[in-house]
Amino acid sequence: MEKFVIEGGKKLSGSVEISGAKNAILPIMAVTLLAKGKSALRNVPKLNDIKMMSHLLRIIGARVDYEDKSLAIDTSYCSFYEAPYEIVSKMRASINVLGPLLARFGKAKVSLPGGCAIGTRPVDLHLKAMEKFGAKINIKNGYIYAEAKELKGAKIYFEKVSVGATENAISVAVSAKGETEIFNAAVEPEITSMIDFLVKMGAQIEGKGTSHLKIKGVQELHSAEMEMIPDRIEAGTFLLAAAITKSEITVKNCVSEHLQSLIEKMEKAGSRFRIENKNIKIFPAERIKPVDIFTEPYPGFPTDLQAQFLALMTLADGESKITDEIFPDRFMHVAELLRLDANITMNKNVASVKGVKQLSGAEVMATDLRASAALVLAGLAAKGKTVISRIYHIDRGYEKIEEKLKQLGADIKRVQG
Ligand code: EPZ
Repeated sequence: MEKFVIEGGKKLSGSVEISGAKNAILPIMAVTLLAKGKSALRNVPKLNDIKMMSHLLRIIGARVDYEDKSLAIDTSYCSFYEAPYEIVSKMRASINVLGPLLARFGKAKVSLPGGCAIGTRPVDLHLKAMEKFGAKINIKNGYIYAEAKELKGAKIYFEKVSVGATENAISVAVSAKGETEIFNAAVEPEITSMIDFLVKMGAQIEGKGTSHLKIKGVQELHSAEMEMIPDRIEAGTFLLAAAITKSEITVKNCVSEHLQSLIEKMEKAGSRFRIENKNIKIFPAERIKPVDIFTEPYPGFPTDLQAQFLALMTLADGESKITDEIFPDRFMHVAELLRLDANITMNKNVASVKGVKQLSGAEVMATDLRASAALVLAGLAAKGKTVISRIYHIDRGYEKIEEKLKQLGADIKRVQG
C-alpha cells in the first residue's frame, strides 16, 4: 500500500493549477446515459472516482475513453440497467445512475450504497422523488428495483437539501411527460454545471442556480460536450495549505464566487486575499485566529472543507468550534490529528479545537477523502516527519496532490508502504 512521507515546516511558494471538479463530472457522466450518442467532457482530471464511474458506464454498455484530460462517452449501445454492489459500495455517487437508467430503460436495479466513513448514506429522498414521477420502487437483497411504464412530470418538494437527490430528480424530469417543479433543490455549483450540460443536450430547465426549478420534459435529448468547472474543494484545500504553512501562494483557474464562505471564514482567521479573474492569491496570517464554523448546503460552509479547516484551527491562538450539520459523523480525522499533538475534544457533531503552538509529525492513517486532505495539511505544518497510510482515499478526489504540493515547495513523497 502506498504512503505519503512529509517533512513538515517547509514554506510553500508559487502557484498551483486547479483541476476539473470531481463532483461536477460524476453526475454529468451519469446523465450522458439519457441520450444515445457520443458526448465529450473536457478538463477531466485523472481520479479514481472518475475511473470507477467510467467502469460503471462500461458495465451499462457505454464506451468510455479517456485521453488528454477529456472523456469520450458513447452511449449508443447501452442495454444493461444495473449498478452492482461492488461498485456502488465503493463509490456512493453511483446512485446518480438511478434516474438516467429509469428514464432510458423504464427500469433500474441499483445497489443500496451502504454506509461509509463519513456516515450512513441514506437514499430515501432519491427514492421518494422517483416515486413522485410514477416509478414503483422495491428494495430487496440490498438492491433498489425501480420500474416505470411512464414517467410523468411532478411537483417535488425536498424536505432536506440533497445534492444527489436533486441531481437524480432533474435527470428524470428532463424527459418525463409534462412539467416538473422542484422545490428546495440543492444549488451547489455542480448542480448548475449539470443543468448547463443538460441544456446543451436539449433539456428545458428554468431557475438554474435557484432552489426552485421548472423543467419541461422533452422527447429527444442528444449528446453534448462541455468544459468541466474547476474543483472548488481542491482550490479551498490549497488555500488552507497556504494558511496552515503561513505561505503566500496563488491558486489558479478557480471560481472565487464558489469559495465565498471559505474566504470569509479564512479572513476572520487572519488570511488576506487578492482575487484577479480566475486566480486567488493568499497572504497568510502570522498568527491564526480561532474561528467557529458549521457546515451547511451551498452557499454555506461546505462539509467537504470541514476537515481541512479543522486542521488549520489546530494551530490557532485559542479555541474554535467545528460543527458538521450535514455529516455528523464526519470526524474520523480527529483521532489522527490527536496523534500529531492537536488538542481536540468531540461532543456529538461538534469538535472543540484548542489551538496548540506546534504539531509534531507521526504515523497516521487516512480514512476518507477529505480527512486524508486534512492530514496532509497538518503534516505540512507539523515539526518533523509525518507518514500517512491508506492514501488511496486521497487519490479518489485529488489529482496528483503530492506533485502539486512538491511544485509549491513542500517536502512530500509517495512511497510503497
Ligand atoms: C454530495 O454527496 C457530494 N458528493 C459530497 O462530496 C458532499 O459532501 C455532499 O454532496 C454534501 O455537499 C458528490 O457530489 C459525488 P447529499 P451527496 O445528498 O449527494 C442526507 C466528497 O468528499 N440525505 O447532499 O451524497 C445526507 O445523509 C463527497 O467529494 C438524506 O437524508 O450528499 C446528508 O446528511 C463526500 N437522504 C445530507 O442529506 C437522502 O436520500 C446531504 O447529503 C440523501 C441525502
